[in-house]
Amino acid sequence: MIILGINETTHDASVSLINNGKILFAGHAERYSKKKNDWFTNRELLKDALQYGWPDKIAYYEKPLLKKIRIKTRGGFGGDRPWFEGTDLVEIPRKNFGHHYSHACAGYFTSKFDNAVIVVLDAIGEFNTSTIWSGIDNKVELKYKQNYPVSFGLFYSAFTQLIGLMPNQEEYIMMGMAGYGDKDKYYKKVNEYFPNIYKQKYNFHKGIIDWNEEVNEENKFDIAAAVQFVYELRLIEFMNMAKNLTNKKRLVFMGGCALNSSANTLLWKLFDDVWIMPNPGDAGSSLGAAAALYGKHIDWQSPYLGYDLGGEYPVDKIIKAIQVNKIAAVATGKAEYGPRALGNRSILADPRDPNIKDKVNLIKQRELFRPFAPVIMEEFASEWFDMSFKSPYMQYTVKCLKPNVIPSVVHVDGTSRVQTVNREQHLGLWNTLNKFYSLTGVPILLNTSLNIKGQPLLNDEKDILEWEHTYKTEIIR
Ligand SMILES: [Fe+2]
Repeated sequence: MIILGINETTHDASVSLINNGKILFAGHAERYSKKKNDWFTNRELLKDALQYGWPDKIAYYEKPLLKKIRIKTRGGFGGDRPWFEGTDLVEIPRKNFGHHYSHACAGYFTSKFDNAVIVVLDAIGEFNTSTIWSGIDNKVELKYKQNYPVSFGLFYSAFTQLIGLMPNQEEYIMMGMAGYGDKDKYYKKVNEYFPNIYKQKYNFHKGIIDWNEEVNEENKFDIAAAVQFVYELRLIEFMNMAKNLTNKKRLVFMGGCALNSSANTLLWKLFDDVWIMPNPGDAGSSLGAAAALYGKHIDWQSPYLGYDLGGEYPVDKIIKAIQVNKIAAVATGKAEYGPRALGNRSILADPRDPNIKDKVNLIKQRELFRPFAPVIMEEFASEWFDMSFKSPYMQYTVKCLKPNVIPSVVHVDGTSRVQTVNREQHLGLWNTLNKFYSLTGVPILLNTSLNIKGQPLLNDEKDILEWEHTYKTEIIR
């Protein structure tokens, strides 16, 4: 049975197609419409997905009526354009699942775990903001829920807005800024906004409305540090509750909060094993809804599930470009499903050169303080970074053990957001790293997304030509 999963009317629409547990396609709307965090699916995305098969059923990631009631009675936002408007898909039987249930199913059914606790933390679903589920024998059962307005995600987003960034989009920038600040300066004050996991000062949907001090270039880094610290304290409290409530040793973590790679590392201290689906936010819920309808584990092989540029991985061309220019822009094969470029729509660079960070930041038109991430051959990970687990999807920030050798991929606080790669995961990328290693003794490259700040990742041939024309630089394919 072919199932089409859809999420939209949220801050990152997507579409997934599965056939008896095999993922045929999963892609983001923004990569086709070129509108960052596009709320709606579009014809091009649907056309790309449907070339792999025509669905027997459709799964939708949310209960639209319930969400409408919340928006009407308690505030918030959300569109109401029906996704099926004007298409033949309107004839296909469809089922709506709860927002947090779709998150939980996306995580549990793509994991290798039969028995695990599933935690979902985001800004808001229909009403739920924080939920705990038991996943066992392909059954996902709710064990605890916290409803709007108390919300981990809204707390983080409101402070993102307070320090002058875009809420629902630039939380990751605030997380990066936290490394530059002194958390102690604002810890007590920020903690009053979220003193324990059951209580917040007020509904943060309105933003932080009673901050009685000017936010400026000096103190915004300290505020970011305090917010990150308070978030981590509450996260650990919540995770401990989830562990005690379900008595399980494996964790599946989902929802937009699971994109906080600095905090995610702490989870390995609490659980024997952790799975965060590489697209844990709302964009991952088109796959979650499809999995919920399928009702069994699906065969998660890799995040390379989107638009297919085809081609062999251009190992030699990348190495040559890095030898000559220190930087190689790469677009090949299928696009990543999820916010991170993991080798197929990436800028790769020599991590040893201290000037590379500024050069890449200039290409991408990003703030100069922003750190870059390393991709490393998995077998060398514990030699270069303080980590005893794999990080194939760049989801964990860990201490770098040789920061002087690879300065361009180490944050000011001595940490790096690491992607580990083995042969099964991505042979082409592993071969590229292996070649770089044989030439330099360093099994690591800088890896960042192939896009300009605030714009979606490059997707197809047209995007490549446009980039090459605009920036007068070749993209390797
Ligand atoms: Fe969500």
